[in-house]
Amino acid sequence: MKHTDIKPITDPSRPQVYIETYGCQMNVNDSEVVLSILQDAGYALTENIEEATLILANTCSIRDNAEQRIWGRIDQFRLQKKTRPEVIIGILGCMAERLKEKLLEKVDLVAGPDSYRDLPQMLQAIRPDRPQINVLLSHEETYADISPVRLDKNGVSAFISIMRGCNNVCSYCVVPYTRGAERSRDPHTIVNEAKTLWKNGYKEVTLLGQNVDSYFWKDEHNSSNNTNFAQLLEMVAKIDPALRVRFSTSHPKDISDEVIYTMAMYDNICKHIHLPVQSGSSTMLEKMRRKYNREWYLERVRKIRSVIPDCGITTDVIAGFSGETEQDHQDTLSLMEQVVFDSAFMFAYSERPGTLASKRYPDDIPYELKTQRLNEIIELQGKMSFKSNFNEIGKQLTVLVEGPSKKNPDELCGRASNNKMCVFPSMGEKAGDYCTVEVVSVTSATLICKRVEEQL
Ligand code: 5AD
Ligand code: SF4
Repeated sequence: MKHTDIKPITDPSRPQVYIETYGCQMNVNDSEVVLSILQDAGYALTENIEEATLILANTCSIRDNAEQRIWGRIDQFRLQKKTRPEVIIGILGCMAERLKEKLLEKVDLVAGPDSYRDLPQMLQAIRPDRPQINVLLSHEETYADISPVRLDKNGVSAFISIMRGCNNVCSYCVVPYTRGAERSRDPHTIVNEAKTLWKNGYKEVTLLGQNVDSYFWKDEHNSSNNTNFAQLLEMVAKIDPALRVRFSTSHPKDISDEVIYTMAMYDNICKHIHLPVQSGSSTMLEKMRRKYNREWYLERVRKIRSVIPDCGITTDVIAGFSGETEQDHQDTLSLMEQVVFDSAFMFAYSERPGTLASKRYPDDIPYELKTQRLNEIIELQGKMSFKSNFNEIGKQLTVLVEGPSKKNPDELCGRASNNKMCVFPSMGEKAGDYCTVEVVSVTSATLICKRVEEQL
């Protein structure tokens, strides 16, 4: 591993880079890899755009509104050039990969998710009339040897990418086109990265992949070293019992009993699974090419709860996919009521150019109806979140302190193992400490807790 500092270099004598990150947690971690590469090339990080000679946006294409927001930001970045024509503006990530040359009308640098090692060379080659672009996708790149420079603020929780790309073909989704084919990273580099974080005071790592359950490392020389996701989880969990391990995202078609049992075996593997369902209608799931149906999903939830009764389960839901009938929509609502998800990310379907759905299935649910269905889903989830939180009242939970609560500086906030946000009175602990608390009341977003005296 290259030995760059784990925290950003802020040195005003170096050229300054400013980075904005949009989209998923994977993008946050990619920005950390990018910063590591740029620091090695002589740059230092600034949070003040007016000081930056290099302005980067690491972008997301998942829905049209994500891209529209970024177009707006690009226009704002360009204002910097009015007074400082030497400023370089670069677009990284999924939107770079999707739009390619189209972005060159507005920016100087376009770099797709697999081209970040090339950034120093591209930056050197940029001239006013010679913008640079690299949107090649790779079958091998995992940035395994690059130690990300950590951009989190509190030094408690960090992301580790365990794989890149995606081999699923969900018909609505642009990710396989923007991030390329799936590839897994050498497990030893993952464990080493987690150990480095632990040595630097981090208490929680989140293993990231588009579909972590299909993580698989094939050792070319010795097949007994082949590693699946359950085995990787165990390797990371064994680093230290006080290092919490989380992971995201699981795919309902691939999450294995072995993963569920491994979670149950280790206290420090957090009891939370993000399991996007997308729809409760088997007809929609088939058209979405999710490769499971409603019954399969409900069986996986039953299995998780039978092995890990307190497991937090969260989800993603899409409202108004092509051809969605009122009955399909009702199926989504009834599934949500049946499962009682702890929380959910909920979206209106946004057709993405180039996807299978954009070629085969018309985006035929009118805007008003999509919005209405989305609102019904959001309203129901509010009730379900409250219901699931209400069930926590009276329970004792171990919370990893993130810092002062936003509303009241005399209180602390942090997450329980099941990923629920807790607030409770401070007794002087700091970020990274563990506290035992008891839930006394709840809202749909938070558990309000009291302190539990430690048993002597
Ligand atoms: N429109 C709306 N939501 C989408 N997602 C992915 N693609 C689309 C799309 N075209 C949602 C899915 C996925 C989450 C990351 O984003 O719910 O799980
Ligand atoms: Fe992440 Fe998908 Fe957005 Fe790319 S398109 S940044 S993979 S959420």
